[in-house]
Amino acid sequence: MPARGGVTEALLTRLRAILGDRGVLTTLADVEPYTTDWRGLFRGRALCVVLPRSADEVSAVVRACVEAGHAVVPQGGNTGLSGGATPDASGRQVVVALTRMAAIRAIDAAGETMEVEAGCILQVAQNAAREQGLLLPVSLAAEGSARIGGIIATNAGGTNVLRYGMARARVLGLEVVLADGTVVNGLRALRKDNAGYDWKQWFIGTEGTLGIVTAAVLQLAPLPRHTVTAWLALSGAEAAIRVLRAARQELGEALSGFELMSGAAISRVEEHVGLRSPLPAAPWFVLLEASASLGGLREAAEAVLGRALEEGDASDCVLAESEQQAAALWKLRESITEAEARAGKSMKHDVSVPVSAIPAFLAEADRAVTAAFPGVRINAFGHAGDGNIHYNVILSATTDTAALNRVVHDLVVRYGGSISAEHGLGQYRVDEAVRTRHPAEIALAQRIRAALDPGRVLNPGKVLPA
Ligand code: FAD
Ligand code: MLT
Ligand code: ZN
Repeated sequence: MPARGGVTEALLTRLRAILGDRGVLTTLADVEPYTTDWRGLFRGRALCVVLPRSADEVSAVVRACVEAGHAVVPQGGNTGLSGGATPDASGRQVVVALTRMAAIRAIDAAGETMEVEAGCILQVAQNAAREQGLLLPVSLAAEGSARIGGIIATNAGGTNVLRYGMARARVLGLEVVLADGTVVNGLRALRKDNAGYDWKQWFIGTEGTLGIVTAAVLQLAPLPRHTVTAWLALSGAEAAIRVLRAARQELGEALSGFELMSGAAISRVEEHVGLRSPLPAAPWFVLLEASASLGGLREAAEAVLGRALEEGDASDCVLAESEQQAAALWKLRESITEAEARAGKSMKHDVSVPVSAIPAFLAEADRAVTAAFPGVRINAFGHAGDGNIHYNVILSATTDTAALNRVVHDLVVRYGGSISAEHGLGQYRVDEAVRTRHPAEIALAQRIRAALDPGRVLNPGKVLPA
């Protein structure tokens, strides 16, 4: 920790006056969990971590930091995969962790909405919705730790975007604290609201660089009565896209998840997490899920699987017979990230391309990466129904990671894709975003940033260059 001047000591004293002693963490042991990301890939330092209990306290913290010349880094569950919640190395930044603002304030069952504070864990919010016969349809492997504010700030995707859209589609109303400490309350539970700028969109997916989300009103959905979950073995990614087309035809809007996983990714789950695939090794696997409240779902799913087998697209498949079997299939899929972390250091490429271009993209990326970077291991999987492939690469000791990122991202750009489909830019992809996006897009983003946070107080160095 750098030597503290009088201004810094005065800031800490002021923060303690706002939050109480227990709301300001300063010892290395207390602060460390907030200054390192989930993978241990991004490490920073912080002057302190503050734990506000209300939007007014967040506001007072921001004002105090601005006046003392210290930047703030908002943080939720710290499960982000792009280093967005990790402070820089200066030891001057203040981490604002929203964990003590975790209340579910209200659920309107008839209106299918929930008002919730930013620090509420996603799974807690999902369970509260479920108790009312409703679904909070944002689902991802980190849902036991990720928090609503982080989900909104990253515009999280996950495994049911195909049917329900990304986190953005759930947000009806927001409360945010701006860079000057102003609290803006737009906690309206309205499906229709065209009264002026839809300003809440500025804070969704902008990773805490334009404001701090303190609460939200979320749109829920009816909890489907029936769910079908299937696991298919496939010889190639082309077959997966044909099965996706057939599934869309048979199951229509009921199709909620279509996850593509390379055989190598599933073998790593078997090796490092100790789970077993229900089918023998194959080049690719698909996890398909559909849900509906009206009947006929199972028959439609059986028709999809029958057609996939008949046409030779699938070599084998299983349809879960119980909730436990379905959960076991999802556990296999959701353990890929953990298995990858255990297999070695990896570079994540959270890319999207048009759905129909997935097979060609994968083939070309495999050729280019294995030719240029011998010794690496590709861990490809993702939300194929959304065109989102996690083209992750487990490194060798000598991999030039910047060159690797350029090879993958250049290909993504050639396919008309995005270098971040759902994880955001954080600190990890800022340079690559500047390199691959049109300069006018970056300039526009800088203008929005300058209008809302001219002093670059909020999460500097994330999303845009510092
Ligand atoms: P953090 O990691 O704490 O923060 C993420 C970003 O949001 C940072 O820039 C931070 O500054 C900002 N932020 C946090 N809270 C606020 C706030 N209240 N106001 C303003 N800014 C804020 N992501 C997906 O999209 N899809 C997946 O399928 C997926 N799977 C994952 C699986 C695993 C095993 C893991 C570890 C992560 C996965 N993620 C996935 C990434 C991660 O879970 C999401 O990005 C999630 O939305 C982050 O939420 P969080 O609360 O942990 O945010
Ligand atoms: C997932 O879909 O499991 C994560 O978003 C992917 C990852 O860990 O790269
Ligand atoms: Zn994902």
